Amino acid sequence: MTDAPNRLTIRRPDDWHVHLRDGAVLEGVARHTARQFARAIVMPNLSPPITTVAAAAAYRERIVAAAGPGFTPLMTAYLTDTIDADEIARGFAEGVFTAAKLYPAHATTGSAHGVTDVANIRPVLERMEAIGMPLLIHGEVTDSHVDIFDREAVFIERTLSGLVRDLPGLRIVFEHITTRDAVEFVEGAGPNVAATITPQHLHINRNAMFAGGIRPHMYCLPVAKREVHRLALRKAATSGNAKFFLGTDSAPHAVGAKESSCGCAGIYNAPYALESYLAVFEEEGAIDKFEGFASLNGPAFYRLPVNEDTVVLERSGAQVPELIDANGTPIVPFHAGETLAWRFLG
Ligand code: NCD
Ligand code: ZN
Repeated sequence: MTDAPNRLTIRRPDDWHVHLRDGAVLEGVARHTARQFARAIVMPNLSPPITTVAAAAAYRERIVAAAGPGFTPLMTAYLTDTIDADEIARGFAEGVFTAAKLYPAHATTGSAHGVTDVANIRPVLERMEAIGMPLLIHGEVTDSHVDIFDREAVFIERTLSGLVRDLPGLRIVFEHITTRDAVEFVEGAGPNVAATITPQHLHINRNAMFAGGIRPHMYCLPVAKREVHRLALRKAATSGNAKFFLGTDSAPHAVGAKESSCGCAGIYNAPYALESYLAVFEEEGAIDKFEGFASLNGPAFYRLPVNEDTVVLERSGAQVPELIDANGTPIVPFHAGETLAWRFLG
């Protein structure tokens, strides 16, 4: 932090929530994440999902091969109604699973095999509480009668508050929070409850999806909310509170799968993730809080050492392309066509 005003050096960050996919696309996207981040919590919502230690170990090898040296993928187990607590615990003990992910069934892309009622996985959650294994939650109800913009807040009421009350020792990351309600819930909970925040939810509110026409590349889940929520997220991220840390939720989909009569949810932000976050910290006058959010708070929650090496960003402008070729799959990145003030140098 002793740099000149146009240069910033911080410990190398980690991404605590990313979708790397598999096959050819993995080969195309993994190196974007590995360029900026030392480690990443890799989401298990492949098709079929990662539900066994063997599948996670094999997927980890494919990621390491695609990303190249110097990058450590941290694997997660996809919880289902019938998942075996012993398999989860064994994966954690063997260092294959860093955490387990709870997708309410049908909440989002690749969640068809998710949990229909948290009561069904109660023994698994109790086991995770006992062994100190983090539970990562996609926090939205899936009840189609609940307005889509209310699904996170209703999840807190109907599910999350009960979980935290009944399993007070369970370590929980409320993933990609999008509301003031979520910020307040996390702030009011014990030290074992934290949250990730994406760049898009710091930059856009729900108007961005409808600016002059329908904008599929601004659509992700949980969906962006009203401005009041965006402002609460910006305040939380830049506050210095260690419960909030970086998780991009970078979720690549081919341009054709987004620009469709039923476009996929997901924003691809990995190539310019740090530039995107840093713009927010600068606008909020909180560049001094950036390293905590990006590089320190996550490892502290996950009980992992911070990274030893550093990265440099320079205030020289990063021009984001309209389209990125991810090994043959064209993907529109977040901030496509914009120039961001800071540039990641490495
Ligand atoms: C994610 C995806 O595409 O896998 N999409 C998204 O909008 N974030 C799934 C998810 O994390 O919800
Ligand atoms: Zn995600």
